[in-house]
Amino acid sequence: MRILVVGSGGREHALCWAIAASPLTTALYCAPGNAGIAREARCVPIGIDDLDGIIAFAREENIDFVVVGPEAPLVAGLVDKLDAAGIKAFGPTAAAAVLEGSKAFTKDFCARHGIPTAAYGRFTESGAAKAYIEQQGAPIVVKADGLAAGKGVIIAETVDEALAAVDAMMADRAFGEAGAEIVIEEFMEGEEASFFALADGTSVIPLAGAQDHKRVGDGDTGPNTGGMGAYSPAPVVDAAMAARIMARIINPTVAGMAAEGRAFKGVLYAGLMITAQGPRLIEYNVRFGDPECQVLVPRLMSDLLPALIATADGQLAHLHLRWHDETALCVVMAANGYPGSYDKNTLIAGVEAAEANDHVVVFHAGTSRDQNGGLIAIGGRVLGVTALGETPAEARDTAYAAVDLIDWPGGFCRRDIGWRAIGRG
Ligand code: AMP
Ligand code: GLY
Repeated sequence: MRILVVGSGGREHALCWAIAASPLTTALYCAPGNAGIAREARCVPIGIDDLDGIIAFAREENIDFVVVGPEAPLVAGLVDKLDAAGIKAFGPTAAAAVLEGSKAFTKDFCARHGIPTAAYGRFTESGAAKAYIEQQGAPIVVKADGLAAGKGVIIAETVDEALAAVDAMMADRAFGEAGAEIVIEEFMEGEEASFFALADGTSVIPLAGAQDHKRVGDGDTGPNTGGMGAYSPAPVVDAAMAARIMARIINPTVAGMAAEGRAFKGVLYAGLMITAQGPRLIEYNVRFGDPECQVLVPRLMSDLLPALIATADGQLAHLHLRWHDETALCVVMAANGYPGSYDKNTLIAGVEAAEANDHVVVFHAGTSRDQNGGLIAIGGRVLGVTALGETPAEARDTAYAAVDLIDWPGGFCRRDIGWRAIGRG
């Protein structure tokens, strides 16, 4: 089969790495890809927002199957357009991608279907939003409704902070048009985890749990990022918890979306708070997580590609996936300054040395080549150094030994990835 992957991050590198290894793959392209993806796929310079360019390329190259990595083209309707062009694709339609595209939709959807999540109000007018905050008190969470690259969420410790967040989002449009509507929710206490499942419109199969590290600094300090490291499985999501998550959250979501004429096909990524009352939904994403994908894919013993195709074809009921028991752990290396403005075009050496260990793979995100063929950093998150180990501690030690072989003065990483599973220090 001739496959096209859309995206350019570590997630798409992991997807390309697995798809390139599939015996079903005869040709693999990635739009636009990066320097690491170029090892697995032919990279084509088409941006993820150039939907017509992607369709035209898929037609010209007789692509059999398109795998869409990031949320923006899904929310913009890339899969609908591919369907209309008769090209099979992995990922939800725009009508189903609204689970990620609109937090307000998802909150109302959870209320309609009895899916446990934080109590909330939604507002298009700042006076009413502020009155709700005064009435609820703090801590309280203020969120921009639309896509804001993971940044449109403010956890306010005080009422004043929450009121300022309303002004920043609604009056100053700190997150652009994503702030035209805001959601204000109850602060949930507990341990955060992610859970992934494939859904083909009606049938669902669980993939696995994972934990991400969203803050930039050790000890979960500093600003939020796209994710500084992850591991899977996550001890907090044991088999009993996974069963509860499926029964209370994932299955009712897939059934509810089908009943509302928005059948969900693709990967459903539930961001969860594991609270004293059980798992509660923080938010949905309609794609693989980044860097969670980088730890799910290496654990999969089965071929990933047939699973993605079965998802698109409505054939998941017949699919059985096998997993390695090991823990996979990914340490993200980011450019100095990230998540603020960061250094660009700095040279990276030592990636081959890091990958000399059979238990290590380095997934690339913001990388490119300079005119001499040297590896350079061109993005915020740049590398995902991923290791497998018998235990979380072994995976962590192997990953950091590989990180220490990478010579990149322009970058940094957290040194405590995996602390919830292993303990600090
Ligand atoms: P989100 O973009 O919705 O995933 O939110 C970003 C982060 O804010 C989450 O990963 C949580 O750490 C935190 N968060 C969001 N909503 C809540 C909530 N209702 N209670 C507690 N923490 C939250
Ligand atoms: N790692 C968080 C995300 O992919 O949204």
